[in-house]
Amino acid sequence: MVPQRPYAIDEMISAKAIAARVEALAKEITRAFRGTDKLIVVGLLRGSFVFIADLVREIDLPVEVDFLEASSYGNAMESSREVRILKDLRGEIAGRDVLVVEDIVDTGFTLHHVVNLLRSREPKRLEVCALLDKPSRREVPIKATWTGFEIPDEFVVGYGIDFAQRNRNLPYIGKVRFTEDGSVG
Ligand code: PRP
Repeated sequence: MVPQRPYAIDEMISAKAIAARVEALAKEITRAFRGTDKLIVVGLLRGSFVFIADLVREIDLPVEVDFLEASSYGNAMESSREVRILKDLRGEIAGRDVLVVEDIVDTGFTLHHVVNLLRSREPKRLEVCALLDKPSRREVPIKATWTGFEIPDEFVVGYGIDFAQRNRNLPYIGKVRFTEDGSVG
Protein backbone atom coordinates (compact mmCIF):
# COMPACT_ATOMS: atom_id res chain seq x y z
CA MET A 1 0.00 0.00 0.00
CA VAL A 2 1.27 3.47 -0.82
CA PRO A 3 0.49 6.20 1.76
CA GLN A 4 -2.44 8.25 0.45
CA ARG A 5 -1.26 11.58 1.82
CA PRO A 6 2.08 13.24 1.07
CA TYR A 7 4.38 13.53 4.06
CA ALA A 8 7.79 14.68 5.20
CA ILE A 9 9.97 13.16 7.91
CA ASP A 10 11.62 15.26 10.61
CA GLU A 11 14.46 13.71 12.61
CA MET A 12 13.45 13.05 16.21
CA ILE A 13 16.22 10.76 17.56
CA SER A 14 19.56 10.70 15.75
CA ALA A 15 21.44 7.52 14.81
CA LYS A 16 24.18 8.59 17.24
CA ALA A 17 21.75 8.99 20.15
CA ILE A 18 20.19 5.60 19.37
CA ALA A 19 23.60 3.90 19.30
CA ALA A 20 24.55 5.38 22.68
CA ARG A 21 21.25 4.29 24.23
CA VAL A 22 21.49 0.79 22.74
CA GLU A 23 24.95 0.40 24.27
CA ALA A 24 23.66 1.50 27.70
CA LEU A 25 20.64 -0.83 27.49
CA ALA A 26 22.85 -3.77 26.54
CA LYS A 27 25.08 -3.10 29.56
CA GLU A 28 22.03 -3.19 31.88
CA ILE A 29 20.75 -6.36 30.23
CA THR A 30 24.17 -8.03 30.48
CA ARG A 31 24.31 -7.16 34.17
CA ALA A 32 20.75 -8.38 34.82
CA PHE A 33 21.21 -11.75 33.12
CA ARG A 34 24.82 -12.37 34.20
CA GLY A 35 25.29 -16.08 34.96
CA THR A 36 22.71 -17.30 32.44
CA ASP A 37 23.83 -20.33 30.46
CA LYS A 38 22.06 -18.93 27.40
CA LEU A 39 19.82 -15.91 26.95
CA ILE A 40 17.10 -16.35 24.33
CA VAL A 41 16.55 -13.00 22.65
CA VAL A 42 13.19 -12.86 20.89
CA GLY A 43 12.68 -10.15 18.30
CA LEU A 44 9.12 -9.17 17.40
CA LEU A 45 8.93 -8.87 13.65
CA ARG A 46 8.95 -6.90 11.67
CA GLY A 47 9.63 -3.63 13.48
CA SER A 48 12.40 -4.84 15.81
CA PHE A 49 14.77 -6.23 13.18
CA VAL A 50 17.19 -3.28 13.23
CA PHE A 51 17.08 -2.79 16.99
CA ILE A 52 17.69 -6.46 17.82
CA ALA A 53 20.60 -6.62 15.38
CA ASP A 54 22.33 -3.72 17.13
CA LEU A 55 21.33 -4.79 20.65
CA VAL A 56 22.55 -8.41 20.52
CA ARG A 57 25.95 -7.28 19.27
CA GLU A 58 26.35 -5.23 22.46
CA ILE A 59 25.13 -7.94 24.87
CA ASP A 60 28.10 -9.69 26.45
CA LEU A 61 26.43 -13.05 27.18
CA PRO A 62 25.85 -16.34 25.35
CA VAL A 63 22.81 -15.55 23.24
CA GLU A 64 20.35 -17.42 21.04
CA VAL A 65 18.24 -15.31 18.67
CA ASP A 66 14.69 -16.22 17.72
CA PHE A 67 11.83 -14.32 16.12
CA LEU A 68 8.09 -14.09 16.52
CA GLU A 69 5.93 -12.15 14.11
CA ALA A 70 2.91 -10.40 15.55
CA SER A 71 0.75 -7.90 13.74
CA SER A 72 -2.06 -5.66 14.85
CA TYR A 73 -1.74 -2.71 12.49
CA GLY A 74 -1.34 -4.21 9.04
CA ASN A 75 -0.98 -1.10 6.90
CA ALA A 76 -3.36 0.97 9.03
CA MET A 77 -2.39 3.85 11.33
CA GLU A 78 -4.78 2.65 14.05
CA SER A 79 -4.30 -0.58 16.02
CA SER A 80 -6.89 -3.24 15.21
CA ARG A 81 -6.56 -4.31 18.88
CA GLU A 82 -6.53 -7.87 17.62
CA VAL A 83 -3.07 -9.31 17.69
CA ARG A 84 -2.33 -12.07 15.20
CA ILE A 85 0.68 -14.35 15.49
CA LEU A 86 1.94 -14.72 11.94
CA LYS A 87 5.12 -16.63 12.79
CA ASP A 88 5.89 -18.45 16.01
CA LEU A 89 9.24 -19.11 17.68
CA ARG A 90 11.42 -21.89 16.31
CA GLY A 91 12.77 -22.88 19.73
CA GLU A 92 11.43 -23.92 23.13
CA ILE A 93 11.58 -21.37 25.96
CA ALA A 94 10.40 -23.45 28.93
CA GLY A 95 12.83 -23.03 31.83
CA ARG A 96 14.97 -20.52 29.87
CA ASP A 97 15.95 -16.88 30.32
CA VAL A 98 14.09 -14.87 27.71
CA LEU A 99 14.39 -11.26 26.56
CA VAL A 100 11.65 -9.94 24.27
CA VAL A 101 12.81 -7.11 22.02
CA GLU A 102 10.17 -4.70 20.73
CA ASP A 103 10.55 -1.55 18.66
CA ILE A 104 7.66 0.45 20.12
CA VAL A 105 4.96 0.09 22.77
CA ASP A 106 1.92 2.14 21.79
CA THR A 107 -1.53 0.93 22.93
CA GLY A 108 0.23 -2.04 24.54
CA PHE A 109 -1.99 -4.67 22.88
CA THR A 110 0.86 -6.34 20.99
CA LEU A 111 3.25 -6.63 23.93
CA HIS A 112 0.48 -7.69 26.33
CA HIS A 113 -0.59 -10.48 23.99
CA VAL A 114 2.95 -11.67 23.30
CA VAL A 115 4.03 -11.59 26.96
CA ASN A 116 0.96 -13.60 28.00
CA LEU A 117 1.61 -16.12 25.24
CA LEU A 118 5.27 -16.55 26.15
CA ARG A 119 4.60 -16.69 29.91
CA SER A 120 2.18 -19.57 29.30
CA ARG A 121 5.23 -21.54 28.05
CA GLU A 122 6.82 -21.15 31.50
CA PRO A 123 10.21 -19.55 30.87
CA LYS A 124 12.47 -19.27 33.93
CA ARG A 125 12.56 -15.50 33.48
CA LEU A 126 11.02 -13.19 30.91
CA GLU A 127 11.92 -9.51 30.52
CA VAL A 128 11.19 -6.97 27.79
CA CYS A 129 13.35 -4.33 26.16
CA ALA A 130 11.51 -1.77 24.03
CA LEU A 131 13.31 0.94 22.11
CA LEU A 132 10.41 3.40 22.20
CA ASP A 133 7.47 3.92 24.53
CA LYS A 134 4.45 6.17 24.00
CA PRO A 135 2.92 6.04 27.50
CA SER A 136 0.21 8.58 26.63
CA ARG A 137 -1.32 6.10 24.16
CA ARG A 138 -1.54 3.12 26.49
CA GLU A 139 -4.82 1.19 26.59
CA VAL A 140 -3.49 -2.00 28.21
CA PRO A 141 -1.41 -1.64 31.40
CA ILE A 142 1.99 -3.00 30.44
CA LYS A 143 5.52 -1.64 30.63
CA ALA A 144 8.81 -2.94 29.31
CA THR A 145 11.54 -3.79 31.81
CA TRP A 146 13.90 -1.53 29.85
CA THR A 147 12.90 1.36 27.59
CA GLY A 148 15.19 3.26 25.25
CA PHE A 149 13.23 6.48 24.88
CA GLU A 150 9.83 7.74 26.00
CA ILE A 151 8.30 9.74 23.17
CA PRO A 152 5.20 11.91 22.76
CA ASP A 153 2.19 10.85 20.70
CA GLU A 154 3.78 11.33 17.28
CA PHE A 155 3.71 8.99 14.30
CA VAL A 156 7.30 7.78 14.01
CA VAL A 157 9.26 5.86 11.37
CA GLY A 158 12.79 4.59 10.81
CA TYR A 159 15.26 2.24 12.53
CA GLY A 160 12.91 -0.63 11.63
CA ILE A 161 9.58 1.16 12.07
CA ASP A 162 7.39 1.66 9.01
CA PHE A 163 4.66 3.78 7.59
CA ALA A 164 2.68 1.46 5.29
CA GLN A 165 5.85 -0.67 4.91
CA ARG A 166 8.04 2.30 3.97
CA ASN A 167 10.90 4.04 5.74
CA ARG A 168 12.06 1.08 7.85
CA ASN A 169 15.58 1.64 6.47
CA LEU A 170 16.10 5.15 7.86
CA PRO A 171 19.07 5.07 10.27
CA TYR A 172 17.32 7.47 12.69
CA ILE A 173 13.85 7.79 14.24
CA GLY A 174 11.83 10.40 12.40
CA LYS A 175 8.47 12.04 12.94
CA VAL A 176 5.94 11.94 10.11
CA ARG A 177 4.58 15.34 9.13
CA PHE A 178 1.82 15.46 6.58
CA THR A 179 2.36 18.13 3.96
CA GLU A 180 -0.02 19.97 1.69
CA ASP A 181 2.35 20.48 -1.25
CA GLY A 182 3.16 16.85 -1.99
CA SER A 183 6.81 16.98 -0.95
CA VAL A 184 8.23 13.90 0.72
CA GLY A 185 11.14 14.41 3.10
C1 PRP B 1 3.82 -2.25 15.55
C2 PRP B 1 5.09 -2.23 16.38
C3 PRP B 1 4.68 -2.92 17.65
C4 PRP B 1 3.22 -2.61 17.78
C5 PRP B 1 3.00 -1.58 18.85
O1 PRP B 1 3.71 -3.49 14.90
O2 PRP B 1 6.14 -2.89 15.72
O3 PRP B 1 4.88 -4.31 17.57
O4 PRP B 1 2.79 -2.13 16.51
O5 PRP B 1 1.68 -1.17 18.91
P1 PRP B 1 0.66 -1.47 20.08
O6 PRP B 1 1.37 -1.21 21.38
O7 PRP B 1 -0.45 -0.46 19.83
O8 PRP B 1 0.17 -2.88 19.94
P2 PRP B 1 2.86 -3.73 13.57
O9 PRP B 1 1.59 -4.46 13.91
O10 PRP B 1 2.70 -2.43 12.82
O11 PRP B 1 3.78 -4.74 12.77
P3 PRP B 1 5.31 -4.56 12.28
O12 PRP B 1 6.19 -4.70 13.51
O13 PRP B 1 5.46 -5.71 11.34
O14 PRP B 1 5.47 -3.22 11.60
